[in-house]
Amino acid sequence: MSEPLVLGIETSCDETGIGIVRGRTLLSNTIASSMDEHARFGGVVPEVAARAHLEALQPSIDAALAEAGVTLDELDAVAVTSGPGLAGALMVGVGAAKGLAVSLGKPLYAVNHLVGHIAADILTPDAEPLEYPTIALLVSGGHTSLLHVRDLTTDVELLGETVDDAAGEAFDKVARLLSLPYPGGPEIDRAALDGDPDAIRFPRGLSRASDLAKHRYDFSFSGLKTAVARWVERFEADEANQGTAVPVADIAASFREAVVDVLVTKALAACADLGVPRLLLGGGVIANRRLREVALERAEAAGVTVRIPPLSLCTDNGAMIAVLAAELISSGRGPSTLAFGADSTLPV
Ligand code: KG4
Ligand code: ZN
Repeated sequence: MSEPLVLGIETSCDETGIGIVRGRTLLSNTIASSMDEHARFGGVVPEVAARAHLEALQPSIDAALAEAGVTLDELDAVAVTSGPGLAGALMVGVGAAKGLAVSLGKPLYAVNHLVGHIAADILTPDAEPLEYPTIALLVSGGHTSLLHVRDLTTDVELLGETVDDAAGEAFDKVARLLSLPYPGGPEIDRAALDGDPDAIRFPRGLSRASDLAKHRYDFSFSGLKTAVARWVERFEADEANQGTAVPVADIAASFREAVVDVLVTKALAACADLGVPRLLLGGGVIANRRLREVALERAEAAGVTVRIPPLSLCTDNGAMIAVLAAELISSGRGPSTLAFGADSTLPV
């Protein structure tokens, strides 16, 4: 089957993503997000996300089929994210995918969400094919992972990941501290426009020589979040600042700089250590202006080429899941048996 028609289902976090591809061609990519429902909690509430998936799935599948101009019967396969992600949210997608595949008598492919993010690159319009090996940095509200990709379908190695909060989660939590709305990433990005990134030196997690021995490619953002909280507390407690507003712009710019610095430093360290002159970026945090700017600047200086798919493919979506399955099919890989389940900590 040279150009398989695949429908992909993604429900690992708060986006219900349904994508349809024919081989490497994107036919539709519908996304329903429950983000608004999480806003008053300042972060994704797993049970709310799972229920929202349940409600959004059928209409999203219908919309994706209509947009692609195909019917369920025409599909060659169904693909679904089986992990990693929120257990309850994943379960909804996996259940739906199994039901669909069994009722249609179509093969079912269970795929890894992180590898899906890498596969999203294939759908970038007019892009040259991804060259191997490449280092991938995936940063979102749910994950912060650094991977060594020698081959998309056979050889992806996790080099490191966050040991506590994801980078996007840190943006969301710090935004909340600064009384900015959810999701915090875009708000901090905006607030930082008028701020000085060097105003406050916030800590770079797991970057000391003693940390690097064990955690060279791992990330930690909870200490940074605490450092911001302590800074605000000290500022407010200082008599000299009575009547002065907390300098939100400087805090936002300095916090953002700390996150960006660590992400880019570690990603480029992996490129240098492993002799890989290519870096692929993915995940919703890639929307961050400063992250893209610093990554491009420092990568150029290091002789590393950076690839950034369009944002609609960087954030969680079903098309990346569909195209990964299409690649697996084209490379001769057989379907999953129905024995798999949702696995919130699924390894790559
Ligand atoms: O990949 P994504 O859309 O969804 C999941 O994490 O599931 O990523 C959302 C995350 C949120 O934490 C949001 O605050 C963050 O990406 N984000 C940003 C920006 N835009 C979104 N973080 C930093 N700067 C941004 N401009
Ligand atoms: Zn993701």
